[in-house]
Amino acid sequence: MAVILDGKKLREKLLTELKTKVDKFTIKPTLVVILVGENPASKIYVNNKKKTAEKLGINSEIINYPADISEKELLEKIGELNQDKTVTAILVQLPLPKHISKENIINAISPSKDVDGFTPYNFGKLFSGEHPNVYPCTPKGILLLLKEYNIDLEGKHAVIIGRSNIVGRPLSQMLLNENATVTVCHSHTKNLEQITKTADILISAVGKNIIKGEMLKSGCVVVDVGIFKDADGKTRGDVDFESTSKIASYISPVPGGVGPMTITSLMLNTVELFEKNLL
Ligand code: GUN
Repeated sequence: MAVILDGKKLREKLLTELKTKVDKFTIKPTLVVILVGENPASKIYVNNKKKTAEKLGINSEIINYPADISEKELLEKIGELNQDKTVTAILVQLPLPKHISKENIINAISPSKDVDGFTPYNFGKLFSGEHPNVYPCTPKGILLLLKEYNIDLEGKHAVIIGRSNIVGRPLSQMLLNENATVTVCHSHTKNLEQITKTADILISAVGKNIIKGEMLKSGCVVVDVGIFKDADGKTRGDVDFESTSKIASYISPVPGGVGPMTITSLMLNTVELFEKNLL
């Protein structure tokens, strides 16, 4: 049976260490999260971010706008937050309503307050093999989890399924930095199973239950980034745990694997931006 990559346990460890650090700050970091609309999943994520920040002694504020806010109004708010010296980190929760350009909004965030690492400056640094101000939260959390379990990446074939800007694309660069050989698969990939069979490390970030044990090489490491509710309202990931846990050497569960690590990374990034004192 595969060893569980326990994101909850690692979250406790890393956040305890982080709290000790934050306790010593005389001025605390301030994270502002912008939420547009009423997406139920986004609301849960955003509230969890605020709760976690509060436990650490990090100031945090959620600004909730109605779904019909204009792009202009949102851009003005971001401009204001960029100028506000008391605000050290800005996060705009995605997805945004269709009438708002995600690119325009992300581009407006000051790279020194871009806690997601999504702005063209930080993304460009990452894709040039340079150091961005911070690394995107979900890929960073995945690497922290793999490191915790001493999973060596050098020379390994890492197969990522999904090419989103939140997970697949930045993760591909971060795995290259670790000297893995990286393949990125997506909805147009032909013969997916032929590729997954060659993976030493498989990371799936699709949002559909697509990975079965028979698609994998024996002993491979499986990281499940997907999280959604199935028809019965049960929380599921991309990976069929039952069949995969018999084939894999390590597997991250859903819930309790990557999810807690994403929030942990956000808190680490908030403190890193603050400590870099870029403002
Ligand atoms: N929506 C889902 N994941 C993320 C994330 O990591 N950052 C932001 N801003 N929105 C998200």
